Amino acid sequence: MAGTDPRAFDEIDFEADDTDVPGGPEPVAHDDATIGPPSLIVDDLHIRYRIIGSGKRQAVTDGPAPGRVRRLLNRGGQHVGTTEVHAVRGVSFVAHHGESIGIVGRNGAGKSTLLRAIAGLIPPSQGTVYVRGTSSLLGVNAALMGQLSGERNIMLGGLALGLTPDQVRARFEEIVEFAGIGDFVYMPMKAYSSGMAARLRFAISTAAIPDVLMIDEALATGDAEFRARSSAKIREVKEHAGTVFLVSHSNKAITQMCDRAVWIEKGVLVMDGPSDEVVAAYAKSLKR
Ligand SMILES: Nc1ncnc2c1ncn2[C@@H]1O[C@H](COP(=O)(O)OP(=O)(O)OP(=O)(O)O)[C@@H](O)[C@H]1O
Ligand SMILES: [Mg+2]
Repeated sequence: MAGTDPRAFDEIDFEADDTDVPGGPEPVAHDDATIGPPSLIVDDLHIRYRIIGSGKRQAVTDGPAPGRVRRLLNRGGQHVGTTEVHAVRGVSFVAHHGESIGIVGRNGAGKSTLLRAIAGLIPPSQGTVYVRGTSSLLGVNAALMGQLSGERNIMLGGLALGLTPDQVRARFEEIVEFAGIGDFVYMPMKAYSSGMAARLRFAISTAAIPDVLMIDEALATGDAEFRARSSAKIREVKEHAGTVFLVSHSNKAITQMCDRAVWIEKGVLVMDGPSDEVVAAYAKSLKR
C-alpha cells in the first residue's frame, strides 16, 4: 500500500497557471495594468466533428427496388459512411482576468467552434480547456421558451445562470430596460420579433456577470443603441475582472473593444498579439 498517503495530495498544485502550458509562460505585452492572473488556459485543443451519412455517393444497383424507384434513388445517390471535420487543430493560448480578446478569421476557420468548446458546449477531441470560474456564451446559454412570457423567461434564465430568485427580482427592471422591450415583457416570447428575442436573450445572459464572457457576432444583431449598450456591458464585465471573447467579422469592432486578438485560419492559430497588429495582418491577408 505504498504511496497512497492522502496527505501527499496536499503537495500537488491543482491550480493551472501559465507555467503549466507547454513551452512555458508566454508574456503578453500589455500597457494595461488591470490585466490579472490567468482566467483560462486552452492547451493543444482539437475539435473534430463527425458527420454521419455524408460519405461518397454510391449508386443503388441491386436489391428489390423496381426500375423507376431505383432511378429515383440514383438521382440523389445514396450517402454512406462518415466524414470528419477537424475544425480546431492544436490551439493553445492563455487568457487573463480583465482582458478582452477578439477572434478573427475567415468563414469556417473554427471561431464559433472554439468558443463553444470554451463554454463547455462541445467536448475537446484532444487537449484541454481550463476555466477559472464561470463561462457563458452570450445568447446561447440562455435557452428561452416561446410559449412563456418574457417575465417568466427572465426568472428561468436567471436561475439557470445561478442567480437566486431574489437576485433575479432585484435585476428584473435592469434586464427589461437593457432589452428595451417595454411592456412586451408580459407577452409570450413567440410574439416577439427576432430582434426583440435576441435582445432579451442577450440581456438575460449578461444579468449574471460571468468570469469569462463570450460573444459570437452578437453585436451584429440589434440597432446602434443596442450595440452601444452591449459594449457598455462588455466594459462592465472587464471592470469586474472578467475575460471577454468577441468573435466578429467587423475589424473595427475588434480593434475598438479588444486589447488583444487571435487569428484563426483553418482551425490553426496563426497569430496572437495586440488587436491592431493582428487585425492589420488579417486584413492584409484578405486582400491577397
Ligand atoms: N455542428 C457541426 N457539424 C459538423 N461540422 C461543423 C459543425 N459546426 C461547424 N462545422 C464545421 O467546422 C468548421 C468550423 O466551423 P465554425 O462554425 O467554427 O467556423 P467559424 O470560424 O465560426 O465561421 P463563420 O465565420 O462562418 O461563423 C467548418 O468547416 C464547419 O463546416
Ligand atoms: Mg461562426
